[in-house]
Amino acid sequence: MNVLVTGGTGYIGSHTCVELIKAGHKPIALDNLCNSSVESLNRVRTITGEEVPFIKGDVCDEKLLHEIFARHDIDGVIHFAGLKAVGESVEKPLDYYQNNLGSTMSLCRVMSAHNVKKFIFSSSATVYSGDNEMPLRETSKTGNCTNPYGWTKYMCEQILRDIVKADPEWSVVLLRYFNPVGAHQSGLIGEHPNGIPNNLMPYISQTAIGKRDHLNVYGNDYDTHDGTGVRDYIHVVDLARGHVAAVNYMQDHKGESVFNLGTGHGYSVLDMVHAFEEANGVKVPYEIAPRRPGDLGTCYADPTKSREVLGWEAEFNQVDMCRDTWNWQSKNPNGYDE
Ligand code: NAD
Ligand code: UD1
Repeated sequence: MNVLVTGGTGYIGSHTCVELIKAGHKPIALDNLCNSSVESLNRVRTITGEEVPFIKGDVCDEKLLHEIFARHDIDGVIHFAGLKAVGESVEKPLDYYQNNLGSTMSLCRVMSAHNVKKFIFSSSATVYSGDNEMPLRETSKTGNCTNPYGWTKYMCEQILRDIVKADPEWSVVLLRYFNPVGAHQSGLIGEHPNGIPNNLMPYISQTAIGKRDHLNVYGNDYDTHDGTGVRDYIHVVDLARGHVAAVNYMQDHKGESVFNLGTGHGYSVLDMVHAFEEANGVKVPYEIAPRRPGDLGTCYADPTKSREVLGWEAEFNQVDMCRDTWNWQSKNPNGYDE
């Protein structure tokens, strides 16, 4: 399939381009580079031996989208492009609603005009309401999001559901990611957050390499085995393969479907710190700090539906996640910058 990959130069998008190529699909990347570098696609070429056609532009630009769909024979779209920093979304809600909802609506409008109706959306476990029992199933309650970023994912899911209701020719797959971590085994592509990382794994690896003095562990009084927050970390290559499974599924399924992409295993903050130290022979100094507002104690997936319906399940373990994160970090201390 020829797949338009919006956000294709980003963290998950670049790994997905690699897995799409390996599975015989043809990705075309569209990105405005607001949070990424086109160098990631040069690295994808080194890994796969194939060039990913790249278009620099904004997914909210409908004129550009019409040109892309007129020029390329696109069969389906994976929509990764979006803003994703939770704290920033609280400070700049309009930017988040405009970009994340606007891009999704523009894309669907133009796709419809060109009769392309296969769509995979990057959603998040953040759409689940905080009062659910664990593990989270696709049928668990959604809503009560704690920040504008989370609401953009919730609202995009609703918009996409309504599009399918109005036109059953659409195939829409909503993928709810748990906590993506790690990097490609080659160490050529990975995640390089701008500024101080918000998420745990980049903070751990930047502490290990000496860029940060110590890790703040946000809370040790949760109802978990060691008091620190528990999450479902998933290797980004497994996540990327989940998208390939969704592309294959959408070729002969219409309507709307939703899948969790997680491992089903929960690890605490201190489990991750210790695993990282052991896997890589490095030290990660940490201090216990107050809870971070909006955090849950425990969050992990029930991945049964993805296994049974998509035929996908995560293959990499906690050691792989820690080793590959460090391999990327130590080979590229400044990300894609020289
Ligand atoms: P990323 O920032 O690395 O990738 C997103 C890409 O989209 C970037 O390359 C950015 O330049 C591009 N972009 C943003 N707005 C754009 C626009 N209007 N037009 C064109 N390009 C635009 O982030 P990622 O971690 O790869 O996340 C990909 C998707 O997955 C996002 O939608 C994110 O919200 C979602 N997601 C990520 C996580 C995570 O922990 N990384 C978890 C759940 C969901
Ligand atoms: C966060 C976002 C979520 C987003 C996801 C993307 C919040 C409240 N939630 O999820 O919306 O979809 O990132 O991956 O921001 N931790 C520390 N010290 C740190 C960083 C994190 O102790 O410096 C802890 C957190 O308290 C949490 C765990 O590590 O228990 C994971 O945190 P993080 O990587 O930020 O992911 P989430 O909070 O699950």
